[in-house]
Amino acid sequence: MKLVLRIGGSVVASPINPKLILEYVELLRKLKRQGHEIVVVIGGGSLARKFITIAKKLGLKERDQDEVAITVSRLFAQLFVKKLRALSCQNIPTTTVQATRSLKDGKIVIMGGLKPGITTDTVAALVAEKIGADMLVKATDQEGVYDKDPRKHKDAVKLDNLSFEDLTRIFELDKHEAGIHQILDPEAVKILKRSHVKVVIVDGFNPNNVLLAVKGKRIGTLIS
Ligand code: UTP
Repeated sequence: MKLVLRIGGSVVASPINPKLILEYVELLRKLKRQGHEIVVVIGGGSLARKFITIAKKLGLKERDQDEVAITVSRLFAQLFVKKLRALSCQNIPTTTVQATRSLKDGKIVIMGGLKPGITTDTVAALVAEKIGADMLVKATDQEGVYDKDPRKHKDAVKLDNLSFEDLTRIFELDKHEAGIHQILDPEAVKILKRSHVKVVIVDGFNPNNVLLAVKGKRIGTLIS
């Protein structure tokens, strides 16, 4: 299948976790052997946020702050590219057109951010739409989507299945609590909904969860 894997900076980059990065590299090799076409979008995590803070202190405008954060996300992408060698595209794509081209060349495409003003969730959604992905898996620091922010509410319940409409409704209810929004950027949700890409949110600290999601096993939260 055509798969977009969004690896949270919160998972591999906050703090930077070389062991986990190696596990993801192995996972990508395995998925490739199984015949899947894969685009990976990696976030910059806490390092990107640190650089945003520094850029702010330097008085740089938001666009420039974002560009610095994008560079950090590409730094993480580069680690994957170097490890995967010939299996992946050697240049990190800076447009969805480039990403599509590398995928057609039979490479695992590894990318970070694309342009200022969006999140890596939105990058993943834009790429998924462009390539006509069957599935987008987001490997994050939560086990899925909850009815409320699990970091604040002990009684939060994980939802196994939901529709894009349900998700939008949860966002509306939870407008004043930033936490739940972080699970998937609402901008990305809009794109995924219109392009009918199935989304699975999984706990990214165990890369095997991604494999299970791809196999269609019940894991995390399925949004369709
Ligand atoms: P994200 O917040 O999307 O990445 O991007 P992340 O670190 O993977 O997120 P978590 O930790 O899993 O939740 C970090 C920042 O980089 C800039 C934005 O400022 C964004 O908030 N960015 C990223 C862009 O401006 N454009 C992009 O295409 C990507």
